Formats: sequence, C-alpha cells, structure tokens
Amino acid sequence: MNILATLRNRFGRALGALGVAESETPELLAMVLPSQDAKFGDYQANVAMPLGKRLGQPPREIAAELVRLADVADLCEPLEIAGPGFINLRLRDDWLAQQVTVASVDVERVGVAQTATPRTFVLDYSSPNVAKPMHVGHIRSTVIGDALYRILRFLGHRTISDNHLGDWGTQFGMIIYGYKHFVDRPALARKPVDELTRLYKLVNTLVEYHETANEKIPAVEKRIADGEQLLAKLRDAAMPADAKAAKQAAKRVRQLDGQLSELRSDLDELLGEVAAVEDDPPMRQLAVEHADIGQRVLLETALLHGGDPTNVELWRQFLPACLLEIETVYKRLGVSFDHTLGESFYQDRLRGVVKDLADKGLARESDGAICVFLDGYDVPMIVQKQDGAFLYATTDLATIQYRMREWHPDAILYVVDHRQSLHFDQLFTAARLWGYRDVELQHIAFGTVLGDDGKPFKTRSGTSVGLAGLLDEAVERAYAIVSQNDAARPEPLLSEEDRRHVAERIGIGAIKYADLAHNRTSDYVFSYDKMLAMTGNTATYMQYSYARVRSIFAKAGADAHSLERAGASPPPRVTSAPHGGEDAPARSNAILLSTPQERALAVALLQFSEALDRVVADYRPNHLTGYLFELATRYSDFFENCPVLRAESDELRMSRLLLCDLTARTLQQGLNLLGIEVVERM
Ligand code: ARG
Repeated sequence: MNILATLRNRFGRALGALGVAESETPELLAMVLPSQDAKFGDYQANVAMPLGKRLGQPPREIAAELVRLADVADLCEPLEIAGPGFINLRLRDDWLAQQVTVASVDVERVGVAQTATPRTFVLDYSSPNVAKPMHVGHIRSTVIGDALYRILRFLGHRTISDNHLGDWGTQFGMIIYGYKHFVDRPALARKPVDELTRLYKLVNTLVEYHETANEKIPAVEKRIADGEQLLAKLRDAAMPADAKAAKQAAKRVRQLDGQLSELRSDLDELLGEVAAVEDDPPMRQLAVEHADIGQRVLLETALLHGGDPTNVELWRQFLPACLLEIETVYKRLGVSFDHTLGESFYQDRLRGVVKDLADKGLARESDGAICVFLDGYDVPMIVQKQDGAFLYATTDLATIQYRMREWHPDAILYVVDHRQSLHFDQLFTAARLWGYRDVELQHIAFGTVLGDDGKPFKTRSGTSVGLAGLLDEAVERAYAIVSQNDAARPEPLLSEEDRRHVAERIGIGAIKYADLAHNRTSDYVFSYDKMLAMTGNTATYMQYSYARVRSIFAKAGADAHSLERAGASPPPRVTSAPHGGEDAPARSNAILLSTPQERALAVALLQFSEALDRVVADYRPNHLTGYLFELATRYSDFFENCPVLRAESDELRMSRLLLCDLTARTLQQGLNLLGIEVVERM
C-alpha cells in the first residue's frame, strides 16, 4: 500500500473533474503531502491555492469543490478545510488497521508494491582506480551506488551495475616504472599485492616529491608573497572616513589575513612532505637518481597505451593482483557487481569513437588536439590529445555507446565525487549531440569525507586512510562496545564468536549508514564516536531497535514466523475492500489500533513505500535512513506506552505482537536495502 500514491490518484481524478488539464496535474499533485504536524491530520492537500490563482477563483471555494469531488471516503475521515484553503486529511482508523494487517501478512515485501512502470537502470559506482590503495572516498560511491541499486531493484526496476574500473591509467605507468627499477622479486612472488602496493607508493612519493619541490612550493610561496604585499598596501592605506567603507576595509584585511594563514599552513604541509624524503637518506638518494621520474612514468604509460609488448605483458601480469585487493574490500562490504568493465575494456573502441564524432561534424581539430566544442562551456571537451592519446572523456563516450547498444537503459546513473561535475556535464551534453537523447544521464554527485580539522579525512601520518584499515578500526571499536554492553548484563548473552560476528555487522553498518544518512551532496565529518552511538540516527541504534523488537519474541516464546503463518492462514476471509482490492486476512489476526501510539506506528509502517519513492525521486538514500529513524522512534513511543506481552486481552496481545513483527521486518528490509545487516542480539 502506498497511501500517498492512492491519495494523489484520487485527487488527480478530482482535478480532472474540475477540468484541470492533464499536463498540469502532476505539478499540482506534488502538493498533496504527508503533513508536518499531526494536528493538521495525516496528509494535506495544498492544491487549492495555486489552482485558485490559475483559475482566478477564491481558493476556499476551490477547496470546497475538491472536497466534494475527491472520492476518498473509504480511507479518510470527512475532509476539513483550514485557513486559506488547505485540505486536511485524516486517515480512518478502521482503514489503517485493515491496511497494516494486510502489510503484516506480506512476508516478502512488507506491503510495498512493485512499480507499475519499470525502467532499466545502469548504475556506475565504486569504479576505483585500481593499483592504488582504495581510500575513504571510494566508500561513498560504493555504498551509495549499492543502496540505490538495491532500492531500485526492490521496487521492480531492471538494474545493471557496472564497475567502471580505472585499470588503464597513469598508476600502471607508476607500477611499471617501479617494477623496472625497484622490484624485489622474491617479495613479488610471495605477496604480489603488497609488493605492487609498495612499488606504487614508492614511485608516487618520488613523483610527488619532485612536483612538490619544483612546482607546488614555488607556486604557494608566490601566492603568499603577493598576499603579503597586498596586505601591507591595505594596512598602509588611510582609513576611510566613511564608517561603512572603514568597516569593509577592515573586513577585507581580516579576510586576507585568514587566507594567508591558510596558505602558510598549506606551505608547512608541503615543506613537511619534502622534508620527509630529504631527511631519509636512502629516499633522498633515490630522489636524486630519479630526477625525471614524472616524465618517465608518463612515458611508460604512453608505451602501455601504444601497445608496447613488454608493458602490455606487465599490465596483464599485475592486474589480477590489483583486482584481488579490491575484491577483498567488496567482500567485506557485501557488495558485488553485475559487470566490471574497466577503462581497458574500451581501448580498441576509442579510435572509432573519435572518427565517428569527426564524421558527424561534432569533433574538430584545434591546436593539434581533437575537440568537441559545446555551447555554454569555456573549454572544449578534448577527445584526443596532440600526441594521439585518448582521454577519460573518450572512454566515457565509448562506454555510453556500449551500454546503450548492449542494455538499452532508460537511465544511466554515475555515482562519482562532485569534483567531476564539469566532466559529466560536458560528457552528457556531448552524448546528447551524438544522438543519445532518450536516456536519462545523471551524475549522482557526493561530497567529501572530512576529518575533525575540516580537511579531507586523513590519518595522523598524513596519508589518505586506507579502506581496509578504516573498516578494521570501526569493527574493533564496535567489538569493544558490544563486549562492554554484554559484560554489563547480569548474565552475558554472547559467546566470543557471537561478539565478533555482531561487531563485524555493527562496525561495517556504522560506516555505511553514516555515509548514507548524510545528504549525499554535502561534505561530512568522519567520526567513529558519532557513527557508533547507541542513540540517534545511526546504524547502531537501528540494529539495536531491531534486536530489541526481536527480544520480545524470545520472551514471548512466540516465534515470529508462526505469527506470520497465523496471519496468512487459514485462508484469509475476504472482507469487502471497496477501492483497493487488497483482501484483509481473517479477523482473529487483525491488528487493532487502540491507542494513539499504535495508530502512529501503523501510519509509519505504511509509509515505507513512500520513503522509497522519495529516494528514487532524487536518488538520495538519506530519505530512507530518515524514514527508518522515524519508524524506530514511533516504535519506541509505542513500546513505552503499550504493554505487549501483558496486554489486556489475547486479541490485543496478538495485535501488538503483529505490529512488533512488522516493525522488525520493515527495519530489517530497510537496512537490507542500505546494504546493512541486522543482528538478533547485541
Ligand atoms: N575511476 C574514476 C575515479 O576514481 C571514477 C570513474 C567513474 N565512472 C565513470 N564512468 N567515469 O576518479
């Protein structure tokens, strides 16, 4: 059951009867919404005001017309008009009870219907550059993409996930260079992943050392000098007599001061990086011996791309080890993909893409490079460089072509860091010019994970945090919490093995949930303490709520499945369902809504599908975390106010157990759609 969809449907018909054009209805129906405040009922229809404006009629009159025309008596109490023309809708208790009873016997889908209009989605997420250690940023793409994939699929859409690995970039030039100069063969034979990682890090450090020393530091120093000069000028200037101008001048000085101190701290960091190499004699020696390493790494990469047999062979040899590394992380996260077609897969199609673009008059030469010029952009999209090399954008165009031919999607979603926005804007514009007009192309952008200092999350040693270490730490901390809680019980419930198992689910769940619960477009501060808190909008609290509901069944000696069976059989007696056609089960297993808390819980339970619709509407999983938090809160109210095992009658006890059971299953399903597993006890 989707209450909102049902109400919109009914109001849609009422608008039709009022003579509103079909093209205008969706926009108006968007104003039928759950109410923010229970005193205005459960839902509100605020369509009369905009409609009044359009028709030049008093909104209250229109509201009265709509109330007369809206055929909702089966599910709503008589409608009320408030203020200038708000229509307040309160759901009928008997209808709610019937609907929530139906949901409670829906073992598979907890009352969520599949979409009537399935679409085909290709989801491009995770997509790390392999051969570099994965870091915290990759978690966001992986976790958000996986949640969207699960939710779309649950709603009945066709979903295809494709991990567009960066398996063809400069990082391989680094490893190849490292292999040719620094390899430790026995180590490579023993632990290839570790040795390749060491080579990557070593070469990367050397490349960055030269870049930092020769380019970055001089650039920052120049900006500081310029800033200081400007600051001195501002300070020397006579104070303006006008108070407002004086205030502005002072503000400008403060701003500049702030910028300068930021630049100085950047400079310190860069000097620190350089010193780390120079204070380490063997590294310093290597830096001197490999002064042109940046150039030579590019050369190795170009050789690989040009088909040089040695480098291609080395790439073939290294790739499996790199994949093994990321597989381990995916396994731990419980994530898998339908396809993993990395950048290398498209290499022999790129020439054809550029040729086709040129033949169609979309790409032309400019300064030796081949470019697609797009209206509204200062810079063109380069598809082939002067030296013949193809680019990230060229591969992405080839990828669109392949996906369209192969899977005919209605939408392709790219879950990628917001810093790539310009790339995707240009890519989508170019793809449309190229002829792919009927597909929804979406960049599902996300913000940066920050440390306490407000800068991109890093460990104290200054390197970006490796993903495996991050997961380990969350699990370790979860283990400490679980052990502590369990030890505080009069009689501990969990064996050591249980504790480990629970800690893994809680630790991983905490990280995922923190990522999903933040609005994806904002940056957020990574904090183990916050994400593992037992109260508030965290996975830990959700998992705890779930376990708490389940513990009732342990106490009741009632097993939840037998409850479901009780609800589902004997064959449901069909009660008349005037509009829905969904049959309520036999009366003896009906849910009764005898208190405001039971009613509020029932409404929340029935709103699960609305939350999922909201996620899909703007591809934001935080609508689902928000919903689950609301549901857990409604449950908590219910639990505090309504005795379950000691209910006044058997009927009420059964009804409340059914509510508990549906709550547990809805929490479980919701968490599952976020890729988070529950635990029975914690
Ligand atoms: N490998 C890229 C990176 O780590 C992300 C790829 C995203 N997907 C795409 N089709 N461009 O930055």
